[in-house]
Amino acid sequence: MMKSKNVLDLTDLSHKELMGVITLADEIQRHPSDYADVCRGKILATLFYEPSTRTQMSFQTAMLRLGGTIIGFDNPQNSSVAKGESLKDTITVVGGYTDIIAIRHPMEGTAAAAAMYSPVPVVNAGDGGHLHPTQTLTDIVTLHHESGRLDHLTIGLCGDLKNGRTVHSLIKTMATFPGNRFILISTPELTIPQYIKDIINASECSYEEIPSLTDAIPKLDVLYMTRIQRERFASEEEYQKQHGVFILDKQKLRAAKKNMKILHPLPRVDEIDVEVDYDDRAKYFEQTVYGMYGRMALIITMLQSSDKSFPARVMPTHPFRCKNPRCITATEKYLPAVFREAGGDMLICKYCDGRRLI
Ligand code: NCD
Repeated sequence: MMKSKNVLDLTDLSHKELMGVITLADEIQRHPSDYADVCRGKILATLFYEPSTRTQMSFQTAMLRLGGTIIGFDNPQNSSVAKGESLKDTITVVGGYTDIIAIRHPMEGTAAAAAMYSPVPVVNAGDGGHLHPTQTLTDIVTLHHESGRLDHLTIGLCGDLKNGRTVHSLIKTMATFPGNRFILISTPELTIPQYIKDIINASECSYEEIPSLTDAIPKLDVLYMTRIQRERFASEEEYQKQHGVFILDKQKLRAAKKNMKILHPLPRVDEIDVEVDYDDRAKYFEQTVYGMYGRMALIITMLQSSDKSFPARVMPTHPFRCKNPRCITATEKYLPAVFREAGGDMLICKYCDGRRLI
């Protein structure tokens, strides 16, 4: 039985559960035929309100390889969403049809909102610039195999650290393992959000911000490259100023450790030169395969502990709303305002982790 029914972030799993999923992913990868039928009769819904190639197909192939079936949409304009259906109603209905829901949405906190109404487990497949736990699962299954450990690593994260949800989720999880050191490589405009720095400060890990990939690279055990998140910029002009600043090429790799691992959640735009694909340190395509096995293991684990019941009604904790314009509560107005207190006058939104003062 998992401690949480839903996976909104990977930290919803205890360390023991997480290590169990990683071990199971490894076991499935070695003996896939033993698992070809374990989800027979089960249905996964993939509700993708935002474009995706890898995540959606990876979830779908994961379920199909377990003997289950899939329903869903990747263009909400083809569903009742186009008629104005609320997230609450879509989730309630789809939860009645299926056994597990994977949801991706451009607004932050959507998976948490969906979990509030779903009778079946919900897994966050990316909520705006907020979190992307199954990409993190992909990343750590890869690191566990390729680096042999998840602690005491020097991890460089480079690119759009502000909007990159894969970066936020990865740091949150890796900060739960001791001795990791995060080297944050970005322009001053695209630095990591404060709440992620707070999480590192409260952990047994440390961070350093370095504006140059060339200066950072010799220190690294892992280099996590990311694309500049064009769709999250206010204007094309702002995007153009940021894009093309950090490019990993053969020249820069000369200064890197011989056993450094290069990861990327993909899609790549131009931040990794194609020549790097032929370097033994490049692991980003293997990473996609590890991700499918990771999702297979996660689906099995979540279905084992699911009991199919509607969650209790959640009441508002405060009489005002989250101020983050990208929070799901900004568009789905019926959602109760729920905050947790973070000391002093600070409140943290349950959905998007946005902060506001009382
Ligand atoms: C990432 C995402 O969607 O956040 N892609 C993915 O899931 N593999 C990274 C990205 O879009 O840049």
